[in-house]
Amino acid sequence: MVRSAENQRTVFACRDCGNETAKWSGFCPSPACGSALPLVEVKPALKAPSAASWNSTGRQPLEELSQLDPEDRPLISLPGQEINRVLGGGIVAGSVVLLTGEPGVGKSTLLLQIAGYLACQGKHVLYVTGEESPHQIKIRSQRLGITGEGIFILPESDVDTILEKLDECRPALVIVDSIQTLYCREVASGPGSVAQVRESGLRLMRWAKSSHTPVFLAGHVTKDGGVAGPRVLEHMVDVVTYLEAQDAGAYRILRNTKNRFGSTSEVGVFEMTGLGLTEVTDPSKAMLAQRYHEAVGAAVVPVLEGNRPLMLEVQALTSPSHGPTPRRVGNGVDYNRLLMLSAVASRRGGLDLAGQDIIVNVAGGFRISEPAADLPVVLAMASSLLNRALKNDLTVFGEVGLSGEVRPAPQAQRRVQEAARLGFSHCILPAANREQADPPPGMQLIYVGSVREAVQKALGDGISQVPPEIPPALRQETALAGV
Ligand code: TYD
Ligand code: MG
Repeated sequence: MVRSAENQRTVFACRDCGNETAKWSGFCPSPACGSALPLVEVKPALKAPSAASWNSTGRQPLEELSQLDPEDRPLISLPGQEINRVLGGGIVAGSVVLLTGEPGVGKSTLLLQIAGYLACQGKHVLYVTGEESPHQIKIRSQRLGITGEGIFILPESDVDTILEKLDECRPALVIVDSIQTLYCREVASGPGSVAQVRESGLRLMRWAKSSHTPVFLAGHVTKDGGVAGPRVLEHMVDVVTYLEAQDAGAYRILRNTKNRFGSTSEVGVFEMTGLGLTEVTDPSKAMLAQRYHEAVGAAVVPVLEGNRPLMLEVQALTSPSHGPTPRRVGNGVDYNRLLMLSAVASRRGGLDLAGQDIIVNVAGGFRISEPAADLPVVLAMASSLLNRALKNDLTVFGEVGLSGEVRPAPQAQRRVQEAARLGFSHCILPAANREQADPPPGMQLIYVGSVREAVQKALGDGISQVPPEIPPALRQETALAGV
């Protein structure tokens, strides 16, 4: 990223994707970005960094790919299963991990806990803090039950001073909280600006690679993308992981959008407790623990978080509306999707929901964005409307289309297996998934082609007899009778 003297010119950078243009053009010209934030002026660093890149010394030996050992990468394994899974087995030497998330989600807590794990193994961790005072970190560590032995706090924002300290004390892990607070003296703009974040990130990355020391960077992202910074780092770091809060709940999901050492479909599930983030190793079990048996208006759905199936309970409450327009409230489900599903259930499913207020909620404060949760939402509404509970051992998944057809869901077998593992014995699923799903022992698969068929199979008779509007080809008969 070093520019030669003649092309060290001011450029204009997008605050979202980090794309640079030589000319001011108002907004990011990249069609893939489409950011609504205006471009910002980025002045180049006055002093060129010492090396163009961490490995450009010109003395690197050639290595044949076939001779390299894939296992030959020093890993620091963490005791936590969830965090190891997300990182691809542990912390890779020399890797740079960007941990992002909204303010208050628990980034500093997780980083201090990671520091605590390593300190327990007798390793030294350097915690660079630009946001909180050492005293505040001490209070947090006390809450988390971390003694603090082996964790060294450096309240500093100047990158060059930080790098000097790092060379001096050679820790096993460096934590920078947060990257937005760092600055390089040579860069004209203020901390948190694109230029500062990029230059600081670059210098830390070079240090990590040359010293083979892992570095964790915390970075804030707000919903409106207003804070400049972390996204410009995404291109250079090895792992980008988001810590997401689930609506109002205490659950947190750690999810990668980039991982050079492992899969991005692995997710870690945590719960924010009084003792910090604790692992939820069996999230399905935890989510169903509070379940009411045979509750009216509840349906259990196996959703996928990354590659991981998770059983969640969708609840619906319908009650006659007293206002001029019936209300629809969705907690944990998309509002527009809820409007569509209630309309499809009324018009194609034979459920008279037109005069009903509908409230849909996902238990545990989770947010479901998968279309596979469509059919459970419809069945939960149907159950509430008909005041009849779904069978306790029944789970359901499937996408719903505007014609009332039930469309296939990806990874049907994974979902069915997770349901079977948790003791479910019946599963209503799309007929189009017939080829992909084998019933696990003790599990009966009930295939449906339409919403109407699903309501009939799940709740039996009692739905109003509107003429079928589903094309006959979509009305697939099932080999099994209703539950
Ligand atoms: P924090 O790690 O400071 O968030 P971030 O660094 O992402 O801004 O955590 C903030 C919240 O976590 C704060 O509102 C309090 C809560 N919290 C707990 O509930 N339990 C705990 O043990 C700790 C340390 C924090
Ligand atoms: Mg913090």
